[in-house]
Amino acid sequence: MSANGPRVLILPEDDWAAAVAAELAARLVERPSLRVCLPTGGTPTPVYAALANAERAGRCSLGAATVVLLDEWVGLAPGDPARCDVRLRDELLERLEAPPAFVPIGVDAADLAAAVAEHDAAAVCLDLAVVGLGMNGHIGFNEPGSSPSGATRVVTLQPMTIAAATAQYGARSMPSGGVTVGFARLLAAQEVWLLVTGERKAAVLRRALTEPENAACPASLLRRHPRLTVFADEAAAGELRGN
Ligand code: F6R
Repeated sequence: MSANGPRVLILPEDDWAAAVAAELAARLVERPSLRVCLPTGGTPTPVYAALANAERAGRCSLGAATVVLLDEWVGLAPGDPARCDVRLRDELLERLEAPPAFVPIGVDAADLAAAVAEHDAAAVCLDLAVVGLGMNGHIGFNEPGSSPSGATRVVTLQPMTIAAATAQYGARSMPSGGVTVGFARLLAAQEVWLLVTGERKAAVLRRALTEPENAACPASLLRRHPRLTVFADEAAAGELRGN
C-alpha cells in the first residue's frame, strides 16, 4: 500500500483474532469511555471471544464504553437468533463482567424513521468504527451503489447479502430490508478498522484496496479515511501481494 494509504496488517490465521482483540483492549485502556461501532457476522466472532477473555482476565474494561450497533435486519422478531443485536449480546456483551452501554437499532419501534434518526445521532462522534467486508464489497448494510455521504437509513439488501445470511442461519428465509449506519458516520469516526478473514474474501479485499475508489465496491470508499486499518489474515490477503 502507498505511504498515505491504509495501514494493512496481515496476520497468520491463528493469531488474527487475538491480535485484533489485543488492539481493541489497548484502545479501551487508553480511552475507557471509547465510543465504538461494532458489526456482527462470522468474521468478528473470534475477536469478541478473545476480547471477552481479556476483559475477564482484567486486561481491559468496557464498563465505561459505549457500543453502537452497526446494522440490523428489519422484519425479524425481537430475540430472533439471527438478529444482529442478539448476536452481539450473545457473542460479547453478555460474556463481560462489566458490559458497556449498548445502543441497538430500534427496528421494532412503531416509528421506524424516528428510530433510524435516533440511531444516526448515536453514531455521531464515534472514536472507532469496526466493520466487516461483504462478498459484494458491502460495509455494514451499505450495499454497492451507496454514497460516501450516506446517512444511517433503511436499505433494501441485495440478493447476495440475503443468500449469505440465509446460508449462515440454516437455510431459513431472511428479510430483504435492513438499517445501517451510513458512510457519513463511519467516515467521520476517529478511526476505522476493516476486519477480513478467509480466502473467499481475497478477491473483494484486493478490489477494495487496489481498484480505483468506486461505489460499486463500497469498501473502497473507506480509503478516504485518514486512519483506516485493515486487519487481514494471510488467506484474505492472498491477492494483495505486489501492491
Ligand atoms: C454485519 C455486517 C456485514 C458483515 C459482512 C461480512 O453486521 O455489517 O456487513 O460484516 O457481511 O460478514 P461475515 O463476517 O459473516 O463474512
